[in-house]
Amino acid sequence: MTQKHLLKLADLTSEEITEILDLADQLKYERKNGIEHKHLAGKTLGMIFQKSSTRTRVSFETGIYQLGGVGLFLSANDLQLGRGEPIKDTARVLSRYLDGIMIRTYKQSDVEDLAAYGSIPIINGLTDYAHPCQVLADLMTIREYKKTFHNLKLTFVGDGNNMANSLIAGCIKMGMEVAIACPKNYRPDAALMAWAKENGKFTCTEDIAAAIKDADVVYTDVWASMGQEGEAAERRKAFEGYQVNDGYMALTHKDCMVLHCLPAHRGEEITDAVMEAHAGEIFEEAENRLHAQKAVMVLLMK
Ligand code: CP
Ligand code: NVA
Repeated sequence: MTQKHLLKLADLTSEEITEILDLADQLKYERKNGIEHKHLAGKTLGMIFQKSSTRTRVSFETGIYQLGGVGLFLSANDLQLGRGEPIKDTARVLSRYLDGIMIRTYKQSDVEDLAAYGSIPIINGLTDYAHPCQVLADLMTIREYKKTFHNLKLTFVGDGNNMANSLIAGCIKMGMEVAIACPKNYRPDAALMAWAKENGKFTCTEDIAAAIKDADVVYTDVWASMGQEGEAAERRKAFEGYQVNDGYMALTHKDCMVLHCLPAHRGEEITDAVMEAHAGEIFEEAENRLHAQKAVMVLLMK
């Protein structure tokens, strides 16, 4: 792996993604079989959170512990960052104490600045633009269930948000077809869609039935992301009907998987029936956050 950081999936080659997934599979096997793997003994990961988290926080903290290191939970409200200390100063200070930083924040540029000014690996634990750790776990889960990425179609139904952006980057790089169904004012990043059209099979439409037809993997996420709570009512109107339900699932391929990054809003972007029918892969996906992120930490911090 030649990358120093994990800022967004667009920065990685398909070979580098495969390297992460292969190591993640190995770490998962070792974990299940009680084989210790303290590749990061004595190392410290700082975990900066400007937004809430269940999966990211717990999987990074237990992940670094299982690798022999220690994780420091750093709530942005408690750091001087929350009182206006610039990212570029925070980066240079924390680089002198820590061996790596995972950050969850709003602006992608803050994550890029942390990497530019710091001297240790930076891992993006979600921004408004991207969620690369989640999509590495998603790709790991897809490969686990389907054994290949070849000839697979992933359909994302809902907001063209951080999840949609990272799924486009990750799935197109691995050779999958990607179809997005979203309202026209809520499309994914325009530059990323243009890149996807040039580099793979990609469509974006308001027609959910057309997008979901013959899908092998259906993916959805909340209508209002963290930081958009004030737009919730407006978004509920705009996204009405953009729901993964039994009617749309009937149009997919046999053995179609359903994935959700979680947390899910049942009755909005997905029905309880679809969630529960696909709980097997959805919670395997959540577990795979742990293994995929441990692989990322080993490859960047060892
Ligand atoms: N999917 C995900 O990142 O979950 P958390 O917000 O709980 O970390
Ligand atoms: N799009 C969601 C993903 C949460 C994991 C958000 O940003 O809130």
